[in-house]
Amino acid sequence: MLYSREVIDEVLSRNDIVDVINSYVSLQKHGADYTACCPFHNEKTPSFHVSRDKQLYHCFGCGAAGTAYTFLQEYENYSFPEAVKYLADRAGMQLPEREMTAAEKRQADYDQTLKEINKTAAGYFYYQLRQEEGKPAMEYLKKRGLSDETIHNFGLGYANITRDHLYQYLKSKGYEDSIMIDAGLVRFDERYGPSDVFWNRVMFPIMDQQGKVIGFGGRVMGDGTPKYVNSKETRIYEKRRHLYAFQLARRSKREGFILCEGYMDVISMHQAGFDNATASLGTAFTIQQAMLLKRFATKVYLAYDSDSAGVSAALKAIPILREVGISARVISMRPYKDPDEFIKAEGAEAFEQRIKEAESSIMFEVRVASEKYDQQDPESRTEFQKEIVRIVSVLPSPMERENYIESIAAKYYIDKEHLTEEVNRYGAYRMERESYEQAVRSETPQEARRREQAAERKYQPQRLLLTWLVNVPKELFPQLQGKISPEDFREPFLHDLAVKLFQQYEAEGTVNAANLINYYENVEEQKQAAAILQSSLQFEPLPEDNEKTVTEIVRKVKQESIKEQMDHLSDMSQLQAFMQLRKQIPTWKITLDSC
Ligand code: CTP
Ligand code: MN
Repeated sequence: MLYSREVIDEVLSRNDIVDVINSYVSLQKHGADYTACCPFHNEKTPSFHVSRDKQLYHCFGCGAAGTAYTFLQEYENYSFPEAVKYLADRAGMQLPEREMTAAEKRQADYDQTLKEINKTAAGYFYYQLRQEEGKPAMEYLKKRGLSDETIHNFGLGYANITRDHLYQYLKSKGYEDSIMIDAGLVRFDERYGPSDVFWNRVMFPIMDQQGKVIGFGGRVMGDGTPKYVNSKETRIYEKRRHLYAFQLARRSKREGFILCEGYMDVISMHQAGFDNATASLGTAFTIQQAMLLKRFATKVYLAYDSDSAGVSAALKAIPILREVGISARVISMRPYKDPDEFIKAEGAEAFEQRIKEAESSIMFEVRVASEKYDQQDPESRTEFQKEIVRIVSVLPSPMERENYIESIAAKYYIDKEHLTEEVNRYGAYRMERESYEQAVRSETPQEARRREQAAERKYQPQRLLLTWLVNVPKELFPQLQGKISPEDFREPFLHDLAVKLFQQYEAEGTVNAANLINYYENVEEQKQAAAILQSSLQFEPLPEDNEKTVTEIVRKVKQESIKEQMDHLSDMSQLQAFMQLRKQIPTWKITLDSC
């Protein structure tokens, strides 16, 4: 952590979350909250709530939640310290000199070193390409039609044929073996010692939005396998959050973005003047990448390969783009394989024409579906029509649906009235939600695990109890004395949050949810904490009903806690005490005066 807890809390307290978020999305007063259509997913009715009272936001649609810091980390892609800096500036505050513990300093230094070593390696590859040994690589790039200017603009390079050339070079620059290995540039073999990961390959540096090198793709020159060797993920290189050549594409004056599959496609496109081309990093297109694009444009042209892999990749990218509010159009490369081949064969003008003729994502989806079915066979044709209904149903606007139904009906000789009826019956939005949820779920194993854990029913009472504690601390904390302690929150994250919450109440006699979330730097953790702390409670009109609910929750938490502790008992003498305690739980009763 770069700044002390106090500074972080102070900065937050000087910025009202409603004002901060309002400068990005326009908020409407709605009861005690402010609401808007969620900036993190595409929706027509506002489910994004900001609470001035709690200084938190929460979207009931997609689960986005957190403090003003979280918002900036998510919306602006800021790191935590950057978010602190931004809000400090906004409040006219002078941040103190960086205060870091030894461990934090090590972490920051480590990240810095990762960036430096990547930069050093990129410089080395760049230089090698221009040496005598780099000649075959230079010839390869020239043969593929790249100009000197393009080769320079993309920082292309060459990894030497010597087994440990880069290793020796980095060593001479003073880098430790461990950082070279961590950065994914060198591997270590028991028998042969250190060797370069990239060896005799053309090198494509991958940069972040600011143009800092964060990783590499290395292509074999010719037909060997594997075609590409790629940097592994590191703390600074998360493939799902970055896009190839985005540092260039984001500055383009052209309309929207052109999304390609390959590095070579992107480079070819730029060379032909389509400098808004970008690509995911050898992995499937993600919701984070869609959000990144959305910050700069609302239109994306898909220029994926024309083979079946390219088509199915496009079919996967479309709903993800749609979810963040980007309308996708699909450019046909046929009869060529990919944008690179197309440009070489037909030139930029012809490609410009293809952009004009690009198919809307809906018509593309329908056409791809039509190719799967035999139109002469009644059963198959019915299946096709069902699929059309599913495709069209994602459109939220009735007018838009109507227009598409008309075009599709005409193109495929289907009865229009009939189709309209089916679409209305199917219900708009359904598929949209499903595909979005799928995309969100496929984020990372770590996030997915968190989500699953959170969903686990047995922890639900613990989550609810935390929510109650935040909402009515003065009533509840005293009554939990001797009954519930942070120990009883068994799920690791909830336990951690409970420890912080109990400590805060003890120290300050009150609860400040936003400051609790400040303890987490990681956005996922902030989100998770915010979702729990900010959930509103549905108070029943009758106090007895509320008391019943919370009493039930407290009992369940304790029962589960005792059960788990008994399962892991090491000392049998404790058994008696647990059993005794368990008998008392049903007699517990929580009273609430003010709810
Ligand atoms: N890719 C990869 N590893 C492979 C093959 C492909 O990481 N073995 C990724 C790379 O990011 C590549 C993208 O998938 O850019 C698209 O693959 P492909 O079309 O095969 O590569 P191109 O970059 O288009 O290369 P080329 O034009 O030289 O075939
Ligand atoms: Mn390709």
